Order: sequence, then C-alpha cells, then structure tokens
Amino acid sequence: MSPKDATAATRATTTENLASLQAHILAEETRHPGASGDFTWIVSAIQFAGKAIAHMVRRARLEQVLGDYGEENVQGERQQHMDVIANRIINRCLGERASIALVASEEDETPTIIRTGAEGGKYCVLFDPLDGSSNLDFGVGVGTIFSVLRNDAEVADAEQTLCQPGSMQVAAGYILYGSSTVFVITTGNGVDMFELDPHIGSFLLVKGGVRVPRAHRVYSINEAYRDQFPRGYQSYLDWAHRNGYSSRYIGSMVADVHRTLLQGGVFMYPPTAKHRDGKLRLLYEANPMAMVIEQAGGLAYSGLERTLALQPHRLHQRTSVLMGSADEVEHVRRFMPTAADAGFEDD
Ligand code: AHG
Ligand code: MN
Ligand code: MN
Repeated sequence: MSPKDATAATRATTTENLASLQAHILAEETRHPGASGDFTWIVSAIQFAGKAIAHMVRRARLEQVLGDYGEENVQGERQQHMDVIANRIINRCLGERASIALVASEEDETPTIIRTGAEGGKYCVLFDPLDGSSNLDFGVGVGTIFSVLRNDAEVADAEQTLCQPGSMQVAAGYILYGSSTVFVITTGNGVDMFELDPHIGSFLLVKGGVRVPRAHRVYSINEAYRDQFPRGYQSYLDWAHRNGYSSRYIGSMVADVHRTLLQGGVFMYPPTAKHRDGKLRLLYEANPMAMVIEQAGGLAYSGLERTLALQPHRLHQRTSVLMGSADEVEHVRRFMPTAADAGFEDD
C-alpha cells in the first residue's frame, strides 16, 4: 500500500463516525434549546430495556418462557410469557428515570403514575412491550414500540393526559428483534436507524435520515379477512392484483412496517367484522409508527383521516391503519372517495 493509499485508508477510518445511539441523542438534544438532558435519559432507558428484551427473546426457548402465560390482558387477548417479561423489563427500566410522569403499556389496563408534574414529571412514555408476540414461538421477528409525549400537569386524569393527538409526540420508534436487533427512532427531525453490536453492547448508527421509497409494488395485509374489509380496500386489492403487485405479510406490525420503511410499499390493517375500528391500537402502535413513516416522507391514515391528527379518547382505543410510500398510500385512497368506502360512517 503506497503512503498516499495508507493516508486515505486512515482518514476513512477516522472520519467515518462510529456513532452510538447515546451519543447521537445527546447531539440531537443540543439542537433543542433549553434541553436539560432528561429526554436523553429516557431514550437511554428505552435502549437499555431493548437490549434486555433482545437477550430474553433470543433465549426464550432455552429458558422455556415461550407460549401462553395463561391469562388475558385488557385487550381480551391471550398473554404470552414473553409479553409479561418484556412488560416487566421496560416498566423497571423506565420507572426510576427522574423526568417520567406516566408510563402506559398495552399489557396494563391503566397507566402507572410515577410522579406529578410538580415533582418533575415532564414526559409520558407509552409502549407495546412485545409486538407480534404470537409469532415468537416460530422465530419470526417481533418488536417493542414506544411513544413519548409531554406531561400536561394541568390534566388531573392520567388516561386523559395520554389522550393527545399523535402530532404531539416528542419522539417515537421501535426496536425490531429480527435477524439483528434494530433501533429506529425519530425526534421530529427525520428518522435514524441503529443496529445492536452484541459484542460491545451498543446500538451503532447505520443510517441517518431514512427515507421511505416513494413507490414500490408491494402491499401488506392479512388477506384472509378480505371479505370483511370495507369495499374501498377490496377494490384496491382487485386493482393491485391486476397491476403486478406482490404481497408480503409477516403478522408482526414492527416487522411489516420496518420492511415498508426501508423497501417501500403499503401496510394496512382495515376494519373487520371482529374489529370494526381496526385491530391496532392508536396510542402505542399506530401513532408511533405513523410518526416514523411521516418523518421518513411517507403517509399514514386511519380511514380518511391523517392518523397523527386523530383526537384519542381512551388509552387502548383501536384504529384502522394505512401507511407507507406516499404514492402507494394514495393508490389505496383513490378507492375511498367516501368514509363508507374506508369502513366508517359518512358524516
Ligand atoms: P401484539 O402482539 O402486540 O398484540 O400485536 C399484534 C398485532 C400486530 O403486530 C400485527 O400487525 C397484527 O396483530 C396481526 O394481526 P392478525 O394476526 O389478525 O393479522
Ligand atoms: Mn402490537
Ligand atoms: Mn404486544
């Protein structure tokens, strides 16, 4: 190697930043005037929980904690052992962080009040501790979804404090426990993606400013419920079948949305006979994913309305989901000139 090549090689290794999630969030925090470091601490707690959950997910069969926990959660769904374990881990990691007022989980009926606004509670954290958990026994990607809101000390009721439109989120993202452990986050300035290097125990920046491709002929939906979908979705599917689309459906929202974020396409969970408003939960599944997709240049709707504009009324309320590449979402919306086409009453 000539001296010139050697210098270039050295420069490449020194300028190509080895950025950890912690360092990246600290740098982000300096962009917010008056930031106190509290927010960084919250992301630090979420990433710590993600590492601990990743470890348990990958050892679940060895530790014999797969399968049914034997109880139903507030959703009326059978809890998996790992739902309960992931919920405990993330509650413990978040519980003692000084700036947290409230935490709320898919697995807990009511929010947990950590401290009041007067005691320093500045943020609320909502999460789906383990999304797609019914897939865990078969080695399919599962994830943790999180959403961070500001605490409104003026609102006495904990649940109503959390019922803020998704556009009020301070940060949102997910951790995907797949072939690798991926941490995706937005704080309102674009979307950044990190990979866990298990050898050093850090999430390392692998892609800053992730953008959803504008178009990609892939749709993601559980087509088994086709006959129950509102007519607009059925007409879209007929059109897609005639226009060379392929279908990809994993059944874990985190995995399906992550593929859509990177590859493009459209992910949908429409209203069905069993879930007339849609199956996915607004506050800790649809809203955080919608913020990520929008921040990456995509679109996210619930019926005819922008998901992030919806005014929530209950912590565990469900919504229909349509999100992904801007062009692909618009292809679906073309078949919904009225709310009834999307499964909702016309005003
Ligand atoms: P969770 O495991 O947190 O209850 O979420 C499961 C959700 C979501 O991950 C996925 O998109 C959807 O359920 C799949 O539902 P179907 O099995 O009805 O397609
Ligand atoms: Mn879920
Ligand atoms: Mn879940």
